[in-house]
Amino acid sequence: MLAGRAWVGGRLQTVEVGVGEDGTITALGKDLTGDRRHDVGQSVILPSGLDVHAHFREPTAGERVESVDTGTLQAAYGGIGAVVDMPNTDPPITTVERLEEKRRRAQGRLAVDLLLYAALTVPERVPALARVAAGFKLYLSPTTGIDPPPRPERIRPLLSAASVTQLPVAVHAEDPRRFRPTAGGGDDGTVAWNAARPPEAEEAAVDGLLMDAPPGLRLHVAHVTLPAVADRLRRAGQSFEASPQHLLLSAGPGADARWKVNPPLRPPPAASELWQRFRSGRVPIVASDHAPHSAEEKARPFAAAPSGMPGVETMLPLLLARVRESSLDLPVLVAAAADRPARLLGLPQGRLVPGHRANLLVVDFRAVTQLRAARLHAPCGWTAFDRWPAIFPAEHYLDGRAIVSGGEYVGAHDGRVVRPAFAPGAARPATVEGSEASRAGPGDDAPPGASARR
Ligand code: DOR
Ligand code: ZN
Repeated sequence: MLAGRAWVGGRLQTVEVGVGEDGTITALGKDLTGDRRHDVGQSVILPSGLDVHAHFREPTAGERVESVDTGTLQAAYGGIGAVVDMPNTDPPITTVERLEEKRRRAQGRLAVDLLLYAALTVPERVPALARVAAGFKLYLSPTTGIDPPPRPERIRPLLSAASVTQLPVAVHAEDPRRFRPTAGGGDDGTVAWNAARPPEAEEAAVDGLLMDAPPGLRLHVAHVTLPAVADRLRRAGQSFEASPQHLLLSAGPGADARWKVNPPLRPPPAASELWQRFRSGRVPIVASDHAPHSAEEKARPFAAAPSGMPGVETMLPLLLARVRESSLDLPVLVAAAADRPARLLGLPQGRLVPGHRANLLVVDFRAVTQLRAARLHAPCGWTAFDRWPAIFPAEHYLDGRAIVSGGEYVGAHDGRVVRPAFAPGAARPATVEGSEASRAGPGDDAPPGASARR
């Protein structure tokens, strides 16, 4: 069992977290019986995070290009116990064969759990994809690996087909019909990029989605950048995420192509208003949109550089530092980074409650460090948050077993490919076949709604 402080009953208090042989939390309380007691003193025990949006680059991974090994290793260091890997790879994950191949290749290489999304491109393929995928990604605009996106008249049939599957559908919501030509060839930095892919494009895309989304669709809008769009989605009761870059950075003069992301960074008022919504709990999920283009690619002129920045390792540490500075409340962060993502994905984790997987972090809030790219584990070799304060978890547990200890990875690279409990065909052990079965907790083959009940 782990003994330390945890947020229980509306306050931080000293508790013990019992962990069973099966890797689940068995009890939460004081004076639990059990043989191995690990006292973490003043450190805080949290559920590990779940990042619902990352781009690893299988199968084109190379020395500077993200693989599932390096991507999930960064997740482990950054306190993320499960990551959603997006399908805009080369080739894109548009068929069952490609999805199966990606799943097969991932086995035995994962530092944490992985969820594989399929690209939503052809309605007829949806039922078969839904038996393997953890969710779908729909791109409404061109972006890395996606050009062209589905035509506008295809969107409604795609959403209808996906709604039958119960699986989450994450949408990159920018309407390309609202894009504008970039002035001067687009070499003018983040201000021009914001003008080229303007706020109206995001607003129009989300308005269209809210009209087209059939009832029952598990819609999730990716990387919302605008406070007004966040408010609109909240009123409509739809899930969405914001990314650290859109919460903490903004468009301004002088920023080079490292700050080029899709959708663009917005000017300071929008970014700070989005942050205010996040800290008051009005942004349901925070997700990294980890897009690890190499330092060399990002050193190109703005117009020629790819969009996106790394973040799976730094998202939670940056936000934990905000908690220490008292600009963010711990329960708000845990809800957005662990609990709500787990519920979107139907996984029995994300809360400190009996029956959930013992996917846990131990965080010493006194241990503030300065982010430095050289100390991170990203092949891309850079971070947009150089020298920002950060707090990395000292310990990270997956199913009750340490994968990070003393700030170092000590795991066995035996993360699993997992799927929502409610996914089609997930009644059998929903993880990949083979040795991992021995680790199968109650998790992925639990009945629908299991995570909400626990
Ligand atoms: O900035 C981005 N980078 N936005 C996307 O939509 C894709 C991503 C990537 O895959 O590089
Ligand atoms: Zn993305």
